[in-house]
Amino acid sequence: MNILVTGGAGFIGSHTIIELYKAGHTVVVVDNLSNSSKESLRRVAELAGVEKIPFYPVDIRDREGLNKVMESHTFDACIHFAGLKAVGESVEKPWEYYENNINGTLVLLDVMRKHNCKNIIFSSSATVYGDPAVIPITEECPKGHCTNPYGQTKSMLEEILMDIQKADPEWNVVLLRYFNPIGAHPSGRIGEDPQGIPNNLMPYITQVAVGKRAELGVFGNDYDTPDGTGVRDFIHVVDLATGHVKALQAIQRQCGISIYNLGTGHGYSVLDLVKAFQSATGITIPYSIKARRPGDIATCYSNPAKAERELGWKAQNGINEMCRDAWNWQRQNPEGYKA
Ligand code: NAD
Ligand code: WQD
Repeated sequence: MNILVTGGAGFIGSHTIIELYKAGHTVVVVDNLSNSSKESLRRVAELAGVEKIPFYPVDIRDREGLNKVMESHTFDACIHFAGLKAVGESVEKPWEYYENNINGTLVLLDVMRKHNCKNIIFSSSATVYGDPAVIPITEECPKGHCTNPYGQTKSMLEEILMDIQKADPEWNVVLLRYFNPIGAHPSGRIGEDPQGIPNNLMPYITQVAVGKRAELGVFGNDYDTPDGTGVRDFIHVVDLATGHVKALQAIQRQCGISIYNLGTGHGYSVLDLVKAFQSATGITIPYSIKARRPGDIATCYSNPAKAERELGWKAQNGINEMCRDAWNWQRQNPEGYKA
């Protein structure tokens, strides 16, 4: 299939493109580079063994720009990663988040339908479950209250996509709810490149390991969890990437609307991850306990059985590989793509 990949220069998009090529698909990337660089795509081309990844530096809110891309290519489906994703920033800048993520997606969907491409895989998030009613979380678990505008955009976009599919059954929509993607391509050539102080746990740990930050702050040790720290379902980004390739099967069988959790089904606490990182790399991560971070929940992990049953997809990498590969990337690229 020929796939339009929005946000393809970013963390998850770049890893997904490699898996798409491996499976025999081709891609065209649209990204405004607001949180990424072209260097990632240069390295993706290297890893995929192609000369160049077709790329347009277009913002998905730019109707004319997108229209030109869709006039120049025929697409079988779109994998839609483009969006702003920093939870804390979204609380400070709600307008910017709603405008970029929601308006951007609305423009994308409109241009897609005008070109009769009505197949989309959307990057959703476990955040739509709020503080989950059931653990492990199945897709039937009711959606919950999101404590921040970022999460709201994901939840609202799921509703928008479902309404559009209901009104026009020619659409096939796959909502992929990611748990906590970490790790990097095993080559160490591509990985997560957060700007400024990392918001997420793993990039913070790797920046401590590489000497950029003095110590990790652990946000709370009084949760109702085995060691008091937050429990999450960390998933290797390459496994997440292969989940998208498998999700194309749902599109091919004209699924209408399908929702899948992409997680491993295992919960690890913040301190479990610190310990796993230390044993995978031999590096000690100094940490101190800090106050809880507003909006955080105690426990979040998936039941990923539906994706296995319907798509034949199952995460292959464990916590050790996730830590090894995150470190391999950080170690080789202490300044991310800037170096
Ligand atoms: P990322 O920031 O690395 O990638 C997103 C890409 O989208 C970036 O390259 C950015 O430049 C681009 N982009 C943003 N707004 C755009 C616009 N208006 N037009 C064109 N390009 C635009 O993030 P990621 O971690 O790769 O996440 C990809 C998707 O998955 C996002 O939608 C994110 O919300 C979602 N998601 C991520 C996580 C996570 O923990 N990383 C978890 C759940 C869901
Ligand atoms: C994990 C655990 C923190 C940093 C976020 C988004 C979610 C999704 C994935 C996009 C928590 C603790 C963290 C630190 C810490 N993203 N922590 N010290 O919050 O589960 O999910 O990213 O869709 O929507 O909310 O991930 O990596 O930020 O935190 O102690 O410096 O690590 O409190 O328990 P989270 P995270």
